[in-house]
Amino acid sequence: MTIQKIGLLVGSLRAASYSRKVAEELIHLAPSNLQLEIVEIGDLPLYNEDLEQAVPASWHCFRETIRAKDGVVFITPEYNRSVPGLLKNAIDVGSRPYGKSVWNGKPGAVISVTPGGLGAFGANHHLRQSMVFLNVPMMQQPEAYLSHIAVCFNNPQSEERERLDQFLKGFLDAYAAWAVETARKEA
Ligand code: FNR
Repeated sequence: MTIQKIGLLVGSLRAASYSRKVAEELIHLAPSNLQLEIVEIGDLPLYNEDLEQAVPASWHCFRETIRAKDGVVFITPEYNRSVPGLLKNAIDVGSRPYGKSVWNGKPGAVISVTPGGLGAFGANHHLRQSMVFLNVPMMQQPEAYLSHIAVCFNNPQSEERERLDQFLKGFLDAYAAWAVETARKEA
């Protein structure tokens, strides 16, 4: 059995972030062939090409951490119908210097999260737009738009929470199978 090392990138720094709770739930539910780890992005200086002359240690560490992963899963809230700057910054940092992007070819997936009712659709698809440019194949199905997320985490015994866990398990199984197949094709 091939074990896939997958980086989880969370688009929120909030201590009580629902997106982080979803990432932690993914780690809890992961099948044995997926090794999931949250890659922290909160200490990355804002992307500035001038800094490539003396690369900040946190940029270097982040780039090497992502480079060592077999795939990436983004778990993101939506800010004003788009990707939070925090996550966009991490994507930008990983994408440079030009020609040395750490994202290239890694099987990706996105889960968008909101306490609201529209599934953070805008963030989900803006993120996909950047990934097309960065040559990150993104899993198409199942799509993951998690609406009304507060209900799930505020009521751990509820039907909604049970449904969330069932959905996340199915998502991970689909991602595990698809990531192996995609990596084989990219090799
Ligand atoms: C939001 N929120 C939000 N929600 C949404 O569904 N669509 C949106 O466009 C926005 N826009 C937005 C902008 C900004 C600046 C903030 C701070 C918040 C609400 C957001 O979904 C909510 O705060 C989530 O709880 C944030 O995710 P975490 O931190 O719980 O992971």
